[in-house]
Amino acid sequence: VHVVHVASEMVPIAKVGGLGDVVTSLAKAHQASGTLVEVIMPKYDCANYSAIDRLRRLTSFPVLWDGEEITTHAWCGVVEGLPVYLLEAEQPAAFFWRGQFYGEADDCERYMFFSRAALEFLLVMDRQPDVLHLHDWQSALVAPLLQHEYRARGLTRPRSLLTIHNIAFQGWMSPDMLAKAGLQPEALAQPHLMLDDSRPGFWHGRHDVSLMRGGVVFADKVTTVSPTYAQEVYKPEFGFGMQAVLGRHSHKFSGVLNGIDQHMWSPSDDPLLPPWGHYSANDTRGKAVCKAALLGELGMPHTDPATAEGGVGRPLVVIISRLTQQKGLPLMLHGMQVALSRGAQLIVLGSASEPEVAKQFEALQAAYHGGPDARIILRYDEGLAHRIYAAGDVILIPSFFEPCGLTQLIALRYGTIPVVNATGGLADTVRDVSNESVPEVERNGFVFYGREHADVEGALHRALDAYQHGQQWWREQLVPRAMRQDWSWSRSAHTYLDIYRSIMQ
Ligand code: ADP
Ligand code: GLC
Repeated sequence: VHVVHVASEMVPIAKVGGLGDVVTSLAKAHQASGTLVEVIMPKYDCANYSAIDRLRRLTSFPVLWDGEEITTHAWCGVVEGLPVYLLEAEQPAAFFWRGQFYGEADDCERYMFFSRAALEFLLVMDRQPDVLHLHDWQSALVAPLLQHEYRARGLTRPRSLLTIHNIAFQGWMSPDMLAKAGLQPEALAQPHLMLDDSRPGFWHGRHDVSLMRGGVVFADKVTTVSPTYAQEVYKPEFGFGMQAVLGRHSHKFSGVLNGIDQHMWSPSDDPLLPPWGHYSANDTRGKAVCKAALLGELGMPHTDPATAEGGVGRPLVVIISRLTQQKGLPLMLHGMQVALSRGAQLIVLGSASEPEVAKQFEALQAAYHGGPDARIILRYDEGLAHRIYAAGDVILIPSFFEPCGLTQLIALRYGTIPVVNATGGLADTVRDVSNESVPEVERNGFVFYGREHADVEGALHRALDAYQHGQQWWREQLVPRAMRQDWSWSRSAHTYLDIYRSIMQ
């Protein structure tokens, strides 16, 4: 199989959230099993160029955009051992010279252009992959374009698979925009095609089209990132207007659980941890070293468990998250208060893009600054994230919805016990310590059901009780048990290969 991922993020060159982790780790897992995998990405000015080997300009070609020819450069390089092509639109378009990945007023146009340029690149290079693997709305337009462009040129087209990482973001825009990419608005802006008649549009008071819809309708197969989320999206509170269209295409839609890259996330040799703090399931002593080191780094006091009452120190509750409504902000804020009221220490590493949310967390940041109990760190920081995963005792993930969630999987790998809302991938991966319907080896955290303060509070109390004097935590060896679980792609990389093969036939 020859697969080309068309994606807006990939670690470690461009990451906003879990999408970037998944593209790289899935591609690496497939490459390791002998599949030819390549990635096409935008060439962002703000990418991490130090992580790209052998970067060079490969070719330049015109992309017809809104009736004009836009000179586009294709660069190639190697990222994490994967061949990567980076597409760059010249001035005056300069879609990826904006100093940020997302958040521009013309994001829809930027990624429509990217989708169009990706196809044009394959045609110019005379490359015929078997499958184009598309991710979220940013590259979903490739699916309708494939049908249109290849038919127009009398070529057989590669097959396409769209993976939905988050259905809340769909790439909504005025139907007229489709014409810029060479598609006919009249033909595609139909309710059974790309028109989103489930919500009022905001362009000219008409309904918008949604790029994600175009992907769902025209891709050969569609997946999302966990089995539970694949069921939830049929309900209005999860589907964001996509319930009906997914229902019509349910025969080609399924949930495939994400995995994590075990080498990138590896407490026994993680270069981002203090070297004397490395640890494994067989010898977890280094975890306490990592905790002491991080508390020191952040200027927080550390109680030595040996001298503490009951032989256990203060639990450290952590949060590592984009700070958006999806992540259950009210429950997060309540959980933070509960943890502190129980005498736990708290470290939050959050990235907020909405100004209101940023303001709220900045106020907390100021309130705790310099004190012994809590640190609120508001930025994206990869190295600090690793050190927090290693140092934490409990990680709080109270998401309102969570297509898969990688933070709980990474936390488990580092023996940091998740407290989660039972939704999406969280429900598929975290089993409550007292859930007797699953074998003990599978129990790995504290699960709550619902969106009320009392729901998160109950689970957090149980977790802190277990830490402070419970047999579940210490005698039943919860931390090493969690660390021994395998959340790598070994579970589901082959499911994707089966899907690729099924659409190639
Ligand atoms: P989402 O993609 O919805 O943000 P996931 O749980 O799938 O959620 O993935 C989040 C990824 O982003 C994880 O790798 C997590 O460690 C990382 N992450 C989130 N916020 C930050 C941050 N502020 N700094 C560093 N890494 C972060
Ligand atoms: C999205 C989802 C998250 C998922 C990630 C990777 O960002 O919010 O739940 O883990 O994509 O698939």
